[in-house]
Amino acid sequence: MITIGFLSNSTMRPSCRFLMTRKTPGIFGSAKYHRTLTSDLSTNHVSFEHNKQFSAYPFRIFGFRSIINNTQKVFCTPITNFGQPRLISGSPCGDCARRRKRRGVSLVASVASEVKEYSTSVETRVNDKNFERIYVQNGIGVKPSVVEKIDKDENVVGEEASRIGIKNVNTENLEGVKGVRSPGREESEIEKEAWKLLNDVIVMYCGSPVGTVAANDPGDKQPLNYDQVFIRDFVPSALAFLLRGEGEIVRNFLLHTLQLQSWEKTVDCYSPGQGLMPASFKVRTVPLDGNKFEEVLDPDFGESAIGRVAPVDSGLWWIILLRAYGKITGDYTLQERVDVQTGIKLILNLCLTDGFDMFPSLLVTDGSCMIDRRMGIHGHPLEIQALFYSALRCSREMLTVNDGSKNLVRAINNRLSALSFHIREYYWVDLKKINEIYRYKTEEYSMDATNKFNIYPEQIPSWLMDWIPEEGGYLIGNLQPAHMDFRFFTLGNLWSVISSLGTPKQNEAILNLVEAKWDDLVGCMPLKICYPALESEDWRIITGSDPKNTPWSYHNGGSWPTLLWQFTLACIKMGRLELAQKAVALAEKKLAVDRWPEYYDTRTGKFIGKQSRLYQTWTIAGFLTSKVLLENPQMASMLLWEEDYELLEICVCALSKTGRKKCSRGAAKSQILV
Ligand code: GLC
Repeated sequence: MITIGFLSNSTMRPSCRFLMTRKTPGIFGSAKYHRTLTSDLSTNHVSFEHNKQFSAYPFRIFGFRSIINNTQKVFCTPITNFGQPRLISGSPCGDCARRRKRRGVSLVASVASEVKEYSTSVETRVNDKNFERIYVQNGIGVKPSVVEKIDKDENVVGEEASRIGIKNVNTENLEGVKGVRSPGREESEIEKEAWKLLNDVIVMYCGSPVGTVAANDPGDKQPLNYDQVFIRDFVPSALAFLLRGEGEIVRNFLLHTLQLQSWEKTVDCYSPGQGLMPASFKVRTVPLDGNKFEEVLDPDFGESAIGRVAPVDSGLWWIILLRAYGKITGDYTLQERVDVQTGIKLILNLCLTDGFDMFPSLLVTDGSCMIDRRMGIHGHPLEIQALFYSALRCSREMLTVNDGSKNLVRAINNRLSALSFHIREYYWVDLKKINEIYRYKTEEYSMDATNKFNIYPEQIPSWLMDWIPEEGGYLIGNLQPAHMDFRFFTLGNLWSVISSLGTPKQNEAILNLVEAKWDDLVGCMPLKICYPALESEDWRIITGSDPKNTPWSYHNGGSWPTLLWQFTLACIKMGRLELAQKAVALAEKKLAVDRWPEYYDTRTGKFIGKQSRLYQTWTIAGFLTSKVLLENPQMASMLLWEEDYELLEICVCALSKTGRKKCSRGAAKSQILV
């Protein structure tokens, strides 16, 4: 086994020593083996004093570790990660548990014995349609952002131990950040409290802010993983900071999570696809020999999460946030970096990989997004499709187009076009469409079938027949063969508006529906996560009798104030400011009094959720982001997308080329694309 440790202390700057110790025989032969690497911190360039074999090894700097000695002095030293999912040698099963247990402390990156792991390129895993091979220059997969940080934080190192909660984000060195630094008016007491609470939950890593914990409920005896930085939860925090002109924490978050991107085995010896982003991470302080401590970032890819759910949305949120960071700060250098470009490509390759699926939508398991428990959303849930679409649009803007990326860019365009057609055409329901489905013929075998997915009209739920208003419509929750999930899922619908996954008319109609169904979808607290709740037998079978997801609670029809910021964004986009103002005012009246709950229960969202955390960060941040956006609606344009008319022209369907009669798209006779 090869072990690599980076040892550094403040007196060693500007160069880090990287000590490599070979512990077991491997491809190098035998015996002890030491190598010293030096890093030129001023240029962020790592050079190797080594034999030539090593230059072929791809590795990535994983993060800092900070070593805290008994005087509480923290030394931050970079930790290597080989950037490949299967890098750890040893007997698989026995080792997995051990590895899982000590992953947080794995400043030691070991190398598998398989020679292919040492390739200088990262396989993109897109079957024979490899969009490109992502080359790892000089054996280094990413530009070592952490090395750069050590340089920058020279004064901070030694003062900060691992802790949650600093009073103010450092806004120095943020010239060029364009956010709104102060509102044009005096902030309300509630806003002041919210900003303070948000500052108090900042997570520090080696003296720098890197994220916010999910909740900081003082009464919570069992925080589970709510003391971690969740990727999805951090997005509203990040936007609140960015809109206030504070970019450092977001930049750090983006770079550190990039370092965590799928690098080790997860559940029971199975590794996730390369490029997977963790659901959350935690900064751990780990004792070392000699009264010293180190700080390490410990990611969770779902292997510890309740239900072992895969965080499909994390990578999509990461891409969306990266674009927002560039737009709001004007600092586009971050997204142009080689390591960041590689990160984008890895996420996309994972999403664009061919499988058995027939649809352009992403096929995922239950619980793969904000709804991270069993709720019957496996398949092609709208939320994932809307985030996927947004991430594709972001990537198209951010990817540097060159010979190496042009195939990927083409694939993105094709997918965007196919996905938007699919969702607009098949997920859309309004009164007219439901009436069509009501009269569907079934068992049609042909390319021209109207009822392509063989939906039996009997499955239109009776609540929907009564509920659907004359005005408005929405995108259904999921579509599979012979199955339409007619529930209204708020996040997916709002992101369809924000990203223009829906047509301009559909987007307008979605907000009309929210207005028409205000009591059901907003009620006492914006906004219902989905409508309606699963009850009785449906609840028993679909949730697996989940006591947390009882009807009108939590994911099952609970009300989540964090959805407010996305509602605000959608309303601003569609010129419905008054709707957002009404919702924000409603939330403002209760959130601080109720101590910023995670969610509310009951049909109208009248009660604080039964198991709801208090001081939930994304509730606080969502509120603040909404307030800033309402004050400065022009800022919203940096977080939105308008209709892309060129995409509508693209149809890459191969059917005509293969001599089959008709492309399904042509046969759809859609009025929707017009
Ligand atoms: C719950 C939510 C999930 C969120 C997490 C942390 O598990 O379902 O969306 O990310 O809490 O707040």
